[in-house]
Amino acid sequence: MEKMPYREGLSVVSHATPSEVISSDWRAGLPVLTGKQVVLRELRPSDAPSLFAMLTTEEVARFISPPPTTIEGFGRFISWTLQQRTAGAYACFAVTIQGFDTAIGIFQVRQLDPSFETAEWGFAIGSPFWGTGAFQQGAELVLDFAFNTLGVHRLEARAAVKNGRGHGALMKVGAVQEGVLRKSFLRGGEYLDQALYANLAEDWWARAAARSSRATPVH
Ligand SMILES: CC(C)(COP(=O)(O)OP(=O)(O)OC[C@H]1O[C@@H](n2cnc3c(N)ncnc32)[C@H](O)[C@@H]1OP(=O)(O)O)[C@@H](O)C(=O)NCCC(=O)NCCS
Repeated sequence: MEKMPYREGLSVVSHATPSEVISSDWRAGLPVLTGKQVVLRELRPSDAPSLFAMLTTEEVARFISPPPTTIEGFGRFISWTLQQRTAGAYACFAVTIQGFDTAIGIFQVRQLDPSFETAEWGFAIGSPFWGTGAFQQGAELVLDFAFNTLGVHRLEARAAVKNGRGHGALMKVGAVQEGVLRKSFLRGGEYLDQALYANLAEDWWARAAARSSRATPVH
C-alpha cells in the first residue's frame, strides 16, 4: 500500500481510545499478535515520536506516499487509524521488538470492498531494523490475521517497480506478482510504474498445513 489511504487534512472525528483488550471483534480493539521476536499491537498516541523518527527518512519514504512531516502529523494519523478501525474499514499495527514497546514500523490493511474479502496491505519499518527478520515475522502475523480474522480472501500489495527491497520482501512471504500498473503512482513529481502482487487465503492455508505436517514427527 504505497499510496497510504491517510493524508493530512482528512477529518478525524472519532475519539476512540486505543485498547489492548483482546476482543473477538477487532473493530473494538486490535489483538496483540506475538511472534518469536516481534509483537504487533494497536497504535497509541505516544507512538508518534518514534514513528516520526523511523518512517520519515529518505530510504524508508522514497517509494511510499509522503508520511506526515511532524510528530503532531503522526498524532493525527494515529487518531485516524483508530477511527478507521472502529469503522471496520482498516487495521494498522505498530511493529515492536519483544521486550521493548517502541514502535519501529507499521503494517496497514485496508478493505477494497465492504465485505473485506479483498483487501490491500502495506508496511514500512525503520531502516535500522531492515534485514533483521522483523518484517518477515510481522508479515506472517498480519497475513494470519487478515485471512483468519478479517476474512480476507485476496490480499493485494503494490510496490514501485524501482523498489527492489519491497519486491524481495513481498516474495519472501509468498506474494505473487500479477502484473504492472503503468504510471500508477505519483511520487516526487514523477509517475512510477507499480507491480501488483497478491497473496491468496488458500495458498496461505496450504503453506500453513505444509509447515505443520513438516513439524509433526512421523514414526
Ligand atoms: C519493505 C520493508 C518493510 C521490508 O523489510 P526488510 O527488513 O527490508 O525486509 P527483508 O530484509 O526481510 O527482506 C527483503 C528482501 O529483499 C531482498 N532485496 C534487497 N534489495 C533487493 C533488490 N534490489 N531487488 C530484489 N530483492 C532485494 C533482500 O535481500 C531480502 O531478501 P533475503 O532476506 O532473502 O535476503 C522495508 O524494507 C521498508 O520499510 N522499506 C521502505 C518502505 C517500503 O518501501 N514499503 C513498501 C514496500 S512494497
